[in-house]
Amino acid sequence: MLRTEEKVIDEAIQGEALDGRKVPNSNGRKVFIESYGCQMNFSDSEIVASILEKDGYETTKLLHEADIVFVNTCSIREKAEQTVRKRLTVYNKHKRKNPKMIIGVLGCMAERLKSKFLEEEKIVDLVVGPDAYRDLPNLVREVDGGRKAVNVILSKEETYGDIAPVRLGGNGVTAFVSITRGCDNMCTFCVVPFTRGRERSRDPESIIQEVRELSLAGYREVTLLGQNVDSYLWYGGGLKKEFANLSDEEKEKSTNFAQLMDRVAQVDRKIRIRFSTSHPKDMTDDVLHAMARHDNICDYIHLPFQSGNSRILEMMNRGYTRKWYMNRIDAIRRILPTCSISADIISGFCSETEEEHQDTLSMMEYVKYHFSYMFKYSERPNTMAQRKYPDDIPEETKQKRLAEIIELQQKHSHEQLKKDLGKTYEVLVEGVSKKSDDELYGRNTHNSVIVFPRENYKVGEYVMVKVEKCTSATLKGKAVK
Ligand code: 5AD
Ligand code: SF4
Repeated sequence: MLRTEEKVIDEAIQGEALDGRKVPNSNGRKVFIESYGCQMNFSDSEIVASILEKDGYETTKLLHEADIVFVNTCSIREKAEQTVRKRLTVYNKHKRKNPKMIIGVLGCMAERLKSKFLEEEKIVDLVVGPDAYRDLPNLVREVDGGRKAVNVILSKEETYGDIAPVRLGGNGVTAFVSITRGCDNMCTFCVVPFTRGRERSRDPESIIQEVRELSLAGYREVTLLGQNVDSYLWYGGGLKKEFANLSDEEKEKSTNFAQLMDRVAQVDRKIRIRFSTSHPKDMTDDVLHAMARHDNICDYIHLPFQSGNSRILEMMNRGYTRKWYMNRIDAIRRILPTCSISADIISGFCSETEEEHQDTLSMMEYVKYHFSYMFKYSERPNTMAQRKYPDDIPEETKQKRLAEIIELQQKHSHEQLKKDLGKTYEVLVEGVSKKSDDELYGRNTHNSVIVFPRENYKVGEYVMVKVEKCTSATLKGKAVK
């Protein structure tokens, strides 16, 4: 199953380990790196691998042969944290056989729990937050010296802009490039501003350089990543500022998201560009016009709305109303008439009434999303919502509302995909289908997965595929010359 599909329904959270690789300056130690959570985590793990490789560590996909085990963690919902705890138990079983094994927690859970992990759990040796990965080789040396090690310092500058990630997790065709880190939005339900710190944009030159290198290495698709890509702004520095507050000199040399997309799209016309995540309060028409200008920017936007009700949106501190969100959808329809749209939706946020839940369903009817990531509200420690609002919607109600949302989404996904029957799309081949070696899969510009007979086509090729069948999640077709 593809990673994006796994997330659709709140249940299946799976980790993925980076592939193994030997390095010329090997110090003889092998690191196993497993990642959970968002695309940014998977991207960060490749930065971690790069930092460690420079110090002579090899990577391995086999847990039993690892000298060091890192798990890159997610805190966004409680279930994600429970999954990581289960994995830590498994690692500790291996450690009993190999007592020298070092176990480290990276990412959002490390940042959230800090040294509590060492004190209370006693099942990890090392705790490293998302802005401290450069310190990993030193921290491992500390653990070698018999101490436990922690670095959870958040930074206002770190973007790892100069570090070329080692692409061990992927298929050699599609890659993630992070353009911002952190988040300043403070949605009341969300831990990310606490675990990933202040929002920073990365120097556009280093982004362009990374995309050039990917192009030379044969990659065919790049996804620009950030918690809120629309607020990307480089002005000589990257710490988030509003454009209106820049000096004249900073304005002069500034690059916003629309301008960045213009530049990235021109690096290699054979490379497709995607981006995630857009924020309804910041997505300007300029961004939509940039998408319309470049054929190689995919005709697809992930635009979370979370709730279709303005009172709930205000409580969530999302910075927009139902009407505003609909206006953004109208702008997409006007400027990019064929664009597919997906969303994130939360059911059962604090005090949500049945009527307000109906507003979420009617928003779905208004937009008819191609697909959505749908979640039950999960109260997270120390967020504004946890401090201000009781988590007062009973579990059964959250579940019932989520089930209604999922059912409606499946109907809409099916309706949207049915419109593709008989159409021919350019598909970038990403791999061999999990169900059959005789089939390949890839995506069209709308981010819909298409499966088709393999014949002599190869991973990484663009193939024109005529759609013949569909389910609610996948298209099936045949290559046409
Ligand atoms: N409970 C449920 N879903 C959440 N998300 C973020 N925080 C929570 C939470 N506390 C969802 C939002 C966000 C996506 C990445 O995860 O929908 O857009
Ligand atoms: Fe969390 Fe909101 Fe930032 Fe997304 S925009 S990471 S939901 S605070």
